[in-house]
Amino acid sequence: MLPRFSLRIVCFGVLFFVTLSCTLHSSAQAAELNLIPQPQSVQPGSGRLLIDESFSVAISGQGNSRLESAVERFLSQLSRQTGIPLNAGPTTGANPTLTISMRQVAKEIPELGEDESYELVVEGSGAKITAPTTLGALYGLQTFLQLVEVTSSGFAAPAVTVKDQPRFPWRGLLIDVSRHFIPLDTMKRNLDAMAAVKMNVLHWHLSDDQGFRVESKTFPKLHELGSDGLYYTHEQIRELIAYAADRGIRVVPEFDMPGHSTSWFVGYPELASAPGPYQIERKWGIFDPAIDPTREENYHFLDKFIGEMAKLFPDAYFHIGGDEVNGKQWSANKKIQQFIRAHGLKDNEDLQAHFNKRVQKVVNKHGKIMVGWDEILHPELPKETVIQSWRGQKSLAQAAKQGYRGLLSNGYYLDLMWPVARHYAVDPLSGAAANLSPEEQKRILGGEACMWAEYINPENIDSRLWPRAAAVAERLWSPQSTKDLASLYRRLNVLGESLEARGLSTRQQNYARMLERLGGGADPAALQVLAAVVEPVKDYTRQKLADQPATSVTPLNRLIDAVPPESALGRDFAALVDRAVKGNATPEERTQMRALLTQWRDNHERLRPLFDDSFLAKELEPLSAELSAVAAAGLQALAIHESKQPPSAAWKAQSVALAQQAATPKAQLLLVVAPAVQKLIEATGGAGASGSTD
Ligand code: ACM
Repeated sequence: MLPRFSLRIVCFGVLFFVTLSCTLHSSAQAAELNLIPQPQSVQPGSGRLLIDESFSVAISGQGNSRLESAVERFLSQLSRQTGIPLNAGPTTGANPTLTISMRQVAKEIPELGEDESYELVVEGSGAKITAPTTLGALYGLQTFLQLVEVTSSGFAAPAVTVKDQPRFPWRGLLIDVSRHFIPLDTMKRNLDAMAAVKMNVLHWHLSDDQGFRVESKTFPKLHELGSDGLYYTHEQIRELIAYAADRGIRVVPEFDMPGHSTSWFVGYPELASAPGPYQIERKWGIFDPAIDPTREENYHFLDKFIGEMAKLFPDAYFHIGGDEVNGKQWSANKKIQQFIRAHGLKDNEDLQAHFNKRVQKVVNKHGKIMVGWDEILHPELPKETVIQSWRGQKSLAQAAKQGYRGLLSNGYYLDLMWPVARHYAVDPLSGAAANLSPEEQKRILGGEACMWAEYINPENIDSRLWPRAAAVAERLWSPQSTKDLASLYRRLNVLGESLEARGLSTRQQNYARMLERLGGGADPAALQVLAAVVEPVKDYTRQKLADQPATSVTPLNRLIDAVPPESALGRDFAALVDRAVKGNATPEERTQMRALLTQWRDNHERLRPLFDDSFLAKELEPLSAELSAVAAAGLQALAIHESKQPPSAAWKAQSVALAQQAATPKAQLLLVVAPAVQKLIEATGGAGASGSTD
């Protein structure tokens, strides 16, 4: 690891996030393969299968059009990865390089619980994928693509036997297209990324206060008045579902009700619990409007609407949301409160349970199984209902104990900008769920990473989702014991690169464009230096810190919108400092540390002209000045240590205060190297010494 790490450190100061050393990694050791998610079992063989222009794929025995198109995509991706022109589709000729054999064709539309296993054997003379169904064959192809690496004799896949199947059958990704509309092409490339890491459910959050995103032929004012013209037609929905099914991905629609539903009321105010008129909500947060659960006509409306959507979306599962109903409209409505009393209901929560029971019957009548957020958990709902836990792991365990199946999303909110390590540490069967009986544990179907879209648009969604969502994909696919963080980060890095090659912009294309926009055409190098060591603030801090809270029409063109959620350089620098304060840094590493600190110290002068020239860069001035000051203090800390003289108490106190100040958010960004520099300062000896720096 170390040589690769060192090279990265040096390059990161000026380049983007991946260096050749990571991408062109080469090894036949199982532990070193770039597979993500980690398979259940990997047995290294000897030798390697070379990939050249004669590479061909044959489907042995039973084939189908889904597998044929998967082979076409596989060949085209392999060709992009290697630069070698390859046949466009499966061959019927003799001596294919890779043979796929399947026992049975998977369902036309993937279903929960189908056999997803596969075996991939690579030998020097050829490779074979064996799978019970098309799904396993698709996964085997993805695994093969991840095996391909550059070697001294050409591109090759190491000889290996992979036996694989997922730990959980439901490995989802929620994409919110209401807060910001995400067009079909962006959805498609994100489905490609999901397929690359064997995620199998797109949870499409299609309606919320800020937009109703599906054409409804039954109630056209839903999309006509509730979407600003930004919605998917039925044809587009069918196209996306087919695209997903081709990749083994189910599509579960969510229409959030009875809360999060303002956009419905723009066209149909009579559904609401207070008189209109209503407008599409532009702000972020939890709002009062909610469907009136006491109005019988509303159930007729929902019957027709859900009937229409149940035909459009073939999946057996149908998500009704059910989260964050604040009950204000219900409390303020005398008729609703009377209904509560007349029906022996306790309170608004009970009223929502009443609503859910009615809606469940409608969903069921249209042949679907209801899914909802954990607020819907109520013993009177039929046990087939699936509970999606977002508020904590406890509700997931409760649901399983009560006989419901459940999904975990708490801990997997990618919009919160957490480090990947934090998401990765969350396991559906840990915490409260660890004490469940084996039978109860079986009810936990898996989980979903969630991308809520208050600060997401087509330009930055890829970089917020990928490669990070793969950490959740791995948690849901691989054995529970798969926990090596260094390995995860290394493999994510390689995946990020390969997704760029598949047309996503995980970190490069859009990021570069966004920085160029910020810099107005000036040399972007200095801006890149600053951008490489900052991260967006975490959790819901962005909205809290805003002078003027953002809305759905606020441009997402600031540095916070461009930089990745996690700074790789920040992480690497912190590791370097940790080694230094423990006395383990090599002279080379100390030189690297000094080079980085010098670059950061001097960067403010280089960036300064931009603060006058670009209004978007202006807010970065204090941040940049602090990077410079804190880096200067870091250099002083190194020099003090080398002088073997203890620092003055005044210098130390002042420098620590500086680093602490630098660690507070500016422009809603965190200067992630400030805490590491503080460690360096604290380790200089003298009063309060906590380590050494050699
Ligand atoms: C949610 O985050 N309100 C499901």
